Amino acid sequence: MKYRKLGASDLSVSEISLGSWLTFGAGVDDASGRACVNAAFDAGINFIDTSNIYGLGAAEEFLGRALKGRPRSSYVLATKLFFPMTETDKGLSRAQIHKQLDLSLKRLKTDFVDLYQCHRYDKDTPLEETMRALTEVVKAGKARWIGFSEWSPENIAAALAIPGVAKFVSSQPQYSIISRRPEAGVFPLCARNGIGQIVWSPLAQGILTGKYRRGAPPPSGSRAVSPEMSGFMSHWLIDENLAKVDRLRPIAAQAGMSLAHLALAWVLRRPEVASAIVGASRPEQVAENAAASGKTLSSDLLSAIDAAVA
Ligand SMILES: NC(=O)c1ccc[n+]([C@@H]2O[C@H](COP(=O)([O-])OP(=O)(O)OC[C@H]3O[C@@H](n4cnc5c(N)ncnc54)[C@H](OP(=O)(O)O)[C@@H]3O)[C@@H](O)[C@H]2O)c1
Repeated sequence: MKYRKLGASDLSVSEISLGSWLTFGAGVDDASGRACVNAAFDAGINFIDTSNIYGLGAAEEFLGRALKGRPRSSYVLATKLFFPMTETDKGLSRAQIHKQLDLSLKRLKTDFVDLYQCHRYDKDTPLEETMRALTEVVKAGKARWIGFSEWSPENIAAALAIPGVAKFVSSQPQYSIISRRPEAGVFPLCARNGIGQIVWSPLAQGILTGKYRRGAPPPSGSRAVSPEMSGFMSHWLIDENLAKVDRLRPIAAQAGMSLAHLALAWVLRRPEVASAIVGASRPEQVAENAAASGKTLSSDLLSAIDAAVA
């Protein structure tokens, strides 16, 4: 496993990290979840991403149990807040930042997170209030570094312009061969300001592994057939994307790689990307995905990928 520095922080994160959306504490049973966490450590993954909203606290509770007994310094732990935990507990106000972080720490059974992220931008709270509250939790030692997910370049620039507050070191956008939006504005702005990218759904929820085929039912045991996990897939699992995957198959074969490796090496080709956050329902997937670290793609292959998904 190779490691990269996360923005201007002192965190060194594995190129492949382990996510917990839809899976841990929710769609994946505890034993399989634990096997995935163990496989991650076995493969050198040191970075784990979660959120208070995943399973309404259940993912954090699962990680609190699964990580118990491992030295706290052996992994980098990131969580988030913003989405409604109750009708009134939501957003990025000062009160919510203090309350939600304390609740996350309790569930995760730790005194601090390495990275505390704003899961979305909160247009109902003054940005200065959010940034000052984030600075307070950093000063209190409850969060070592701060980040955001899916903020626009305008939101990011406004936060960077506030004097005397903690600086963001990470951005968490959706980014994959079939979802390239952050390349234009977010990547360059962040690169100029010491903010690294930790990208989500780099496998497009499994679509870029090639296991879904046009005209065929989704494989049994996959996210697409899981009542708990399929809810966010329908607008991605469409013929247009499956046709792109079909055009990528010969390119992966030419590169001598699995499609999953091609997709992960593709996001990691960008120096702005510190880590690809990958979800997993079983330990074999974690081992396979971790082995993508260090794989590179020639400029010919990159051009062929561009043409395949244009
Ligand atoms: N910031 C945000 O707003 C946001 C949003 C979404 C996600 N995230 C973060 O990003 C993480 C990853 O997102 P994701 O789970 O959607 O992304 P993903 O890594 O693109 O997809 C993961 C899913 O693909 C399947 N899979 C993974 N490796 C495979 C392999 N080698 N072969 C076959 N199938 C494989 C598994 O599903 P099945 O086995 O069930 O098919 C797995 O759960 C999340 O866990 C979360 O931490 C953040």
